[in-house]
Amino acid sequence: MAQITMTRRYRFCAAHRLHTDFLTPQQNWAAFGKCNNLNGHGHNYVVLVTVKSATAGAAYRQEQLDQVVEEVIVSRFDHHDLNEDPAFAETTTTGENLVKLIWDLLVDKLPAGSLEKVGVIETRDNYFEYAAPAAVH
Ligand code: NI
Repeated sequence: MAQITMTRRYRFCAAHRLHTDFLTPQQNWAAFGKCNNLNGHGHNYVVLVTVKSATAGAAYRQEQLDQVVEEVIVSRFDHHDLNEDPAFAETTTTGENLVKLIWDLLVDKLPAGSLEKVGVIETRDNYFEYAAPAAVH
């Protein structure tokens, strides 16, 4: 069935360092390369949030979506060190883990079933995307 979606773009700047205490320094370097640099580094992250078209008016939905993403995502991460975020206490701050976290943070704050997918652009050449399987009823 054809479906219309809307995608909004958001931005935040954040620092991170790819590192896990479960690996030795040598193993961390082998796994993450220069992203394991002790001093960390930053990205201008772009977050693409796609929602399904629904019965509510588009203008309202866009405004509502902007408000939720600002409160739940942008204000939480903008100008922060991702490694210090409690959600990353036991995982590394990879784009894969970040895009999944953003989905998890948003999905319960938006109308049920409206979130279609989340994308994160980390660098010019790195894009991560996540969409959870539909809930089984
Ligand atoms: Ni990085």
